[in-house]
Amino acid sequence: MGDNDFREARAKNAEKLLDVRNLEIQFKTKNGYISAVEGLNFSVHRSELLAMVGESGCGKSVTSLAVMGLIEHPGRVRADRMELAGVDMTRSSPEEIRRLRGAQMSMIFQDPLTSLNPLFTAGHQISEQFLTHVPGCGRGEAKRRSIEMIRKTGIPRPEAVYDSYPHELSGGMRQRIMIAIAMCCNPVLLIADEPTTALDVTIQAQILHLMRELVVEYETSILFITHDLGVVAEMADRVVVMYAGQIVEEADVLTLFHKPAHPYTKGLLHSTIKVQDAGSRLEPIPGAVPSLRQLPSGCRFHPRCAYADDECRRRRPELVEVGLNHYSRCLLFPRRENVA
Ligand SMILES: Nc1ncnc2c1ncn2[C@@H]1O[C@H](COP(=O)(O)OP(=O)(O)O)[C@@H](O)[C@H]1O
Ligand SMILES: [Mg+2]
Repeated sequence: MGDNDFREARAKNAEKLLDVRNLEIQFKTKNGYISAVEGLNFSVHRSELLAMVGESGCGKSVTSLAVMGLIEHPGRVRADRMELAGVDMTRSSPEEIRRLRGAQMSMIFQDPLTSLNPLFTAGHQISEQFLTHVPGCGRGEAKRRSIEMIRKTGIPRPEAVYDSYPHELSGGMRQRIMIAIAMCCNPVLLIADEPTTALDVTIQAQILHLMRELVVEYETSILFITHDLGVVAEMADRVVVMYAGQIVEEADVLTLFHKPAHPYTKGLLHSTIKVQDAGSRLEPIPGAVPSLRQLPSGCRFHPRCAYADDECRRRRPELVEVGLNHYSRCLLFPRRENVA
C-alpha cells in the first residue's frame, strides 16, 4: 500500500459523528413547495471543525436547523439518513430529538440577543441547562457549575455576570454566554451559524479563539457556518461550499485554498483576497444567487460563471471526486488531479 493509498484509506474511514445523506428541505410558497436544499450529503468527523461556506441564501442556515430538528411546519425535511453518534434522527420521535438537543448537539447563532431570554439572568439560563439535562442536579450545584462554565468562556468576575441580564452585557459577552449554554452539557456536536458576524473584529478573534480551545478541551465536533473565508482559513479542518441549495465543492482546508476546483469557490477566494488587500474594494462574483423559484437550467452556477459553455447550460453536473477526498460539481473541471 502506497503512502497515498494509506492516507486515502484513513481519511475515508474517519469516524463520522454526523452523517447526512440525501437531505431535502422544502418550504411552502403560493405555487407549492420549493426546495431550499436538495440531495445534500455531508458528514462531520469526530473532533473536527467542518466549515460550511457560501453566500447569503445558499441554504446554510436551513441545513443546520434541519440537523437540529428545528425546521417548523409547513417546512418539510426529508433525508435517507441523519445520523448523530450512531442514532438515525430521521427515525427518532420529536421527544427524542428534543432530548438530543442540548445534551448531544447544540447551536449558537449570529445574534445572541434573539436567543437569550431578556427576562432572565445569564446565570439562570445556563443553570436551566444543567437542571434539564443533568439527572439529580439541584439548584446549588447548577449555580456552581454555571459559574465555572462562565469562567471557562474567559469572562472575568463570573459571579457578577451570573446575575446580569442580557441587556447589561456587551455583544461579545452575550456570545460567550451563548457558548456557555451550548457547551455546558458537553455536546458531541456544536453548530455555530455565523457566530461572530455581528461582532467587531477584535472580539470576533477572541470568540473564535475560545471556540477552538473548547473543541480541544471537550473534543466537540463543530459545524461552523460562515460566509467569511478568512475565518475558514483560520479555523477549519475541512470545508463544504454551498451554492443555491447544493454542495458544489468539498475538500480539506489546504486543498480548498490552494487547489480550488469549482469556479464558484475560486470566485469566493478571489473576492476574499481582494478584501484583505488593504485599500482595494470588495470584488464580488458578478450576479446574484438565483431565486429558488427560478433555478437556472443545467449547472446552477452557469449564469455567473466565466467558463460556462453550452453544455453547462444544458447538463446538470454531479458532485465528483477530483482529488484525494476532494469533490467538485463542475462539468469543466471534473478530472481527478494528481493527488501526490
Ligand atoms: N421559513 C422559510 N420559508 C421559506 N423560505 C425559507 C425559509 N427559511 C429559509 N428560506 C429560504 O431558503 C433559502 C436558504 O436560506 P438560508 O438557509 O437562510 O440561507 P443562508 O443561511 O445560506 O444565507 C433562501 O432562499 C431562503 O429564502
Ligand atoms: Mg444563514
